[in-house]
Amino acid sequence: MNDMTPTREQRTAALEGLGCKRKRVEDVRFTQGKGNYIDDLKLPGMLHGDFVRSPHAHARVKSINSDEALKVPGVLAVITAETLKTVNLAWMPTLAGDVQMVLADAKVLFQNQEVAFVVATDRYAADDGVSKVVVEYEPLPVIIDPFKSMAPDAPVLREDLSGKTSGAHGPRKHHNHIFEWTVGDKELTDAAFKKADVTIKELISYHRTHPSPLETCQCVCSFDKIKGELTIWGTFQAPHVIRTVVSLIAKLPEQKIHVISPDIGGGFGNKVGAYPGYICAAVASIVTGKPVKWVEDRIENLTATSFARDYHMTTEIAATKDGKVTGLRVHVLADHGAFDACADPSKWPAGFFNIVTGSYDFPVAHLTVDGVYSNKAPGGVAYRCSFRVTEAAYCIERAMDILAQKLGMDPAELRLKNFVRREQFPYHSALGWEYDSGDYHTAMRKMMETTDYAALRREQADKRAAFKRGETREIMGLGVSFFTEIVGAGPSKNCDILGIAMFDSCEIRMHPTGAGIARMGTKSQGQGHETTWAQIIASEIGIPADNIMVEEGNTDTAPYGLGTYGSRSTPVAGAAIAMAARKIKAKAQMIAAYKLEVHEDDLEWDIDGFRVKGLPEKFMSMKDICWAAYNSVPPGMEPGLEAVSYYDPPNMTYPFGAYLCVMDIDVDTGVYKVRRFYALDDCGTRINPMIIEGQVHGGLTEAFAIAMGQEIRYDEGGNVVTGSFMDFFMPTAVETPHWETDFTVTPSPHHPIGAKGVGESPNVGGVPAFSNAVNDAFSFLGSTHIQMPHDYWRNWRAAKSLGVLG
Ligand code: CDP
Repeated sequence: MNDMTPTREQRTAALEGLGCKRKRVEDVRFTQGKGNYIDDLKLPGMLHGDFVRSPHAHARVKSINSDEALKVPGVLAVITAETLKTVNLAWMPTLAGDVQMVLADAKVLFQNQEVAFVVATDRYAADDGVSKVVVEYEPLPVIIDPFKSMAPDAPVLREDLSGKTSGAHGPRKHHNHIFEWTVGDKELTDAAFKKADVTIKELISYHRTHPSPLETCQCVCSFDKIKGELTIWGTFQAPHVIRTVVSLIAKLPEQKIHVISPDIGGGFGNKVGAYPGYICAAVASIVTGKPVKWVEDRIENLTATSFARDYHMTTEIAATKDGKVTGLRVHVLADHGAFDACADPSKWPAGFFNIVTGSYDFPVAHLTVDGVYSNKAPGGVAYRCSFRVTEAAYCIERAMDILAQKLGMDPAELRLKNFVRREQFPYHSALGWEYDSGDYHTAMRKMMETTDYAALRREQADKRAAFKRGETREIMGLGVSFFTEIVGAGPSKNCDILGIAMFDSCEIRMHPTGAGIARMGTKSQGQGHETTWAQIIASEIGIPADNIMVEEGNTDTAPYGLGTYGSRSTPVAGAAIAMAARKIKAKAQMIAAYKLEVHEDDLEWDIDGFRVKGLPEKFMSMKDICWAAYNSVPPGMEPGLEAVSYYDPPNMTYPFGAYLCVMDIDVDTGVYKVRRFYALDDCGTRINPMIIEGQVHGGLTEAFAIAMGQEIRYDEGGNVVTGSFMDFFMPTAVETPHWETDFTVTPSPHHPIGAKGVGESPNVGGVPAFSNAVNDAFSFLGSTHIQMPHDYWRNWRAAKSLGVLG
């Protein structure tokens, strides 16, 4: 070896593969303002659409008069449900097996529902046209409180379903009932409760919130009448699914639909489903023969596109007197709004909520979920969450704290006592999941040691004593949260969307010079896929990540995939990437054997090429193999070096984490200070630690927002009172606490590189940590459970109701 020969470390580092804190390649364009978003798209002759929306939450639409609107200069058309009926598009199917009005058909069911679509030569003219459409409404009684949805005298919301005693998920008990979903063993659970020394029961609500990505939902539709082809550029987290949905509902051949998701400014679940704006823009383009752009404003996004949560979870735990849990019983009242437009895999009406046993070894459990309609916007998306996992984690983590309080035990100790132990994996939970791997005790103890949990508890005890002596008006809370997630939807045996199995895909094509392009069925919305996907390939085939271009979001070029949401990209597409790379490597080995004149079995892989075993000087780099693939392959072998993998995972992956929030609350003002927030995440093999840290920071910031104030709230008349960023809490750097991050690594045994997802973990684990901190702070004053969100006013109100305001 001469001085110029790179060392093994240098060769490995040059790849920037797994474990490397590779800088985000996409940031080169983002930081220079060169991202390419939907609103950057300007096509010749492009028209603009805007919606007339309902001011009422529930009303009969008596008439719609467009005469004055059509006189506005620039306005070309006003589309109503009557127009859509001519092409059979007045209603559309939802991902949850329900149907949804595209434009108001005889009735409106929530405030800001789409009533008519005005098409004009520019956005301003469209907006002027909207203000001139005259709609006559007859207001009807409104249901906002889901607990009133199934009252005997509750108004009928969905007249289209009248007389239907069953829906997509079985029997309906009431005209505003959608489904009942039951999992677990009722008899054994009831028996456990009968025998229990100690039980707790609490209504734990997870309020309605909204993903509110920076860029709202938008599209440009362009129909080419000559070719009969429709091109849709849109903010789609799952472009292939959108293509299939459009083909099915518009009855256009799928090969004549081109769906392109360019750069997307955040999604968080908001951009998974199909919205009336997409349908109306497509119909408007077909009718006018011109491209049509639809861009939501912020108020429209917050009030009419998919909400998240609105789960009301009556939770009971049975336990022994020394704190061993023996049973879990949960009933959920799920408010789905006007239409069941939840974005869950088809067979899961309450998503993966049955992960609600969490990280604890419950011998028995029973869960029932009732979905109901109300006069609120439809949705029920996984806001940085894997299909109701966030709700489940909040439910069990609050309940464990409530149990600890009742038992007089430390919440961390109670958790340690009940964790699934390392040797129990793969672990079968009482509600039907098989957890792939975990080491909960190690993670929890690392959190407790790093934060000096014992010292914090001593400090809290001193502060409580000082508060009781009247020496301080501040109370201190320690919010412990330990979550287990379920991500990577999913195995085709139990996950599909509209009948399409939830696999994912990757195609890698290597070029002669040792560079390549990789295409996936996923779509990054800020997660950094262009950076990390290339790192997987780099480690697998020894080509530097910089030489691999990653492309997503074009249904004409990418292999079919189910998209990016629910932290499924790494568990599913990440695996497809590794498997496609391994196919490349297998062919490369045959080429290398031919060129080095040895048998394939005589070769061993060495970082970036193949070496002849026992003859270290006989080596062929992957770069040279790429060249050979295009000029001297073994006789009988096809030239070229490319591979495709469609990966159907054998199981989900189960990331976990231990979080701690230290908070001080001034009881006289309700003002809180997050003094410390520690987040330990275990997502198995870590592809890019810097990206993981960024994901955790972002997710924790959203968790902070949700727990401490972010809420979609309605008044009794069904008016949204938090419909803009004036009222909907969107934290800036000023309010956001400092985050301490940490990790353990417990690889997934079934994933080709051992990786689990991470993107949503901090939202899942963060919310209970914040809420437990607030509740822990108030607990010594006699409080058991204070509902989220914990804004200043609610904290003050809690202090007042506990009688500590003098
Ligand atoms: O599906 P989504 O991309 O939202 O979530 P994810 O699979 O958790 O990945 C989010 C980002 O974190 C991606 O860029 C991943 O490559 C990266 N990641 C990682 O570096 N290591 C992991 N074990 C998991 C995710």
